[in-house]
Amino acid sequence: MPADNNLDLVIRNADVVTASDRFQCDIGVRDGRIVALGQGLPQGNREIDATGLLALPGGVDGHCHLDQPMPDGMRMADDFFTGTRAAVCGGTTTVIPFAAQEKGASLKAAVEDYHSRAEGRAVIDYAFHLIVADPTPAVLQDELPTLIRKGYTSFKVYMTYDDLKLSDREMLEVLDVAREHKALVMVHAENSDCISWLTDKLTGEGRIAPRFHGLARPAPVEREATHRAITFAELVDVPILIVHVSGKEAIEQIRWAQGRGLKILAETCPQYLYLTADDMGLPGDDGYEGAKCVCSPPPRDPENQAAVWRALVNGVFSVFSSDHAPFSYDDPQGKKLGGSTEHSFDHIPNGVPGIETRLPLLFDGVARGKLSLHQFVELTSYRPAKIYGLYPRKGTIAVGADADIVLWDPVRKVRITNSALHHAVDYTPYEGIEVTGWPVTAFSRGDMLVSNGEYLEPAAGRGRFLEAGQPEV
Ligand code: URP
Ligand code: ZN
Ligand code: ZN
Repeated sequence: MPADNNLDLVIRNADVVTASDRFQCDIGVRDGRIVALGQGLPQGNREIDATGLLALPGGVDGHCHLDQPMPDGMRMADDFFTGTRAAVCGGTTTVIPFAAQEKGASLKAAVEDYHSRAEGRAVIDYAFHLIVADPTPAVLQDELPTLIRKGYTSFKVYMTYDDLKLSDREMLEVLDVAREHKALVMVHAENSDCISWLTDKLTGEGRIAPRFHGLARPAPVEREATHRAITFAELVDVPILIVHVSGKEAIEQIRWAQGRGLKILAETCPQYLYLTADDMGLPGDDGYEGAKCVCSPPPRDPENQAAVWRALVNGVFSVFSSDHAPFSYDDPQGKKLGGSTEHSFDHIPNGVPGIETRLPLLFDGVARGKLSLHQFVELTSYRPAKIYGLYPRKGTIAVGADADIVLWDPVRKVRITNSALHHAVDYTPYEGIEVTGWPVTAFSRGDMLVSNGEYLEPAAGRGRFLEAGQPEV
């Protein structure tokens, strides 16, 4: 091979696993892309031996929150630097957080502001989803179509939270724009009025501890909104993706819709496999520690966890994301909002951290024989890349793809502990859980960012913005 055609990197003896195939080969990388897959590739400028390790496409986290502007004195602990650092240490090489519109403000301004937060900070590549909170005629007719054309092809809408929620009519209008411009709408499906009614009843009775968060958002609240969102998608004739599905009642609605031939995609997250309502506080426990596990929809019970595992295996879910929502516990701008542990559950910032633990927690299901390696890659990398318009650049190991490759030790046992994680949050809800399988080495566009478990401190800002193409659903 001529000198100027040297390979920058050769990963030798790789046991490559994609969503569909498994093969042994060397991986040749030049200029950040995979240029050769084969036996006995010529010497590269850098050589890595992957014997005994699996080579998987880097994870694509299709739902995480990083440095998102927050109301009411709240602050996210992770910005694009600490959040993407943690992501890559957990085997994720692409993240898709949210540029969130504020009610009364423009969407374009939210995107510009969000770029300024990411630039110079991200260590891995990133695309943006939008959050549409105020679908004015200007947003629907001008801003949204323009942004879709510029590579922001997915957006989230909320059916709850006063500062974000859309009316049913607004949901229909946003879905119609998505249909016309071939974008994908992600739906946070919980019934707002049911939640506020239940919350008022609970707090009126003095039932304010974190564990009552679960009682204010029981499964029917999610089931009803899921069904309503499906109905809207059917009326408008457009695919949607229901995010962070927590259990069997919502799953039943999604299966029902899929059975009718509707394009209803769904996502679940680690918290619905590993946490239950008890983690927000046992009956009689009115302490505050449970705030660490307050997220929406809330974690439910072991029967629902089992239903979520089944739905991952049988294809109801297309994507497995972290929904990383990085609020520190001991932080007056985080879970202890205003420095208080006395306020009621409805003032606790919602969400749990999980950007680094997402893949190991699911991989443990592979080690336990619950799902196949191919399903693991499909749910965590291939399908999110396809659905969010980043494939084939991301989501696979193939000639022409970015060299975003993670070497996994499939038998390594790790006990998760926050002190070993790389986010800026002061806790993990998964403290003490032992998993089998860990991502030991990670490459982003051919640059080694993690080596044998050690973060190599790449330059902040090396991560690039990805313009997303049309979602493939
Ligand atoms: O409780 C959650 N899920 N917080 C993060 C924001 C969201 O709704 O995804
Ligand atoms: Zn949500
Ligand atoms: Zn979220």
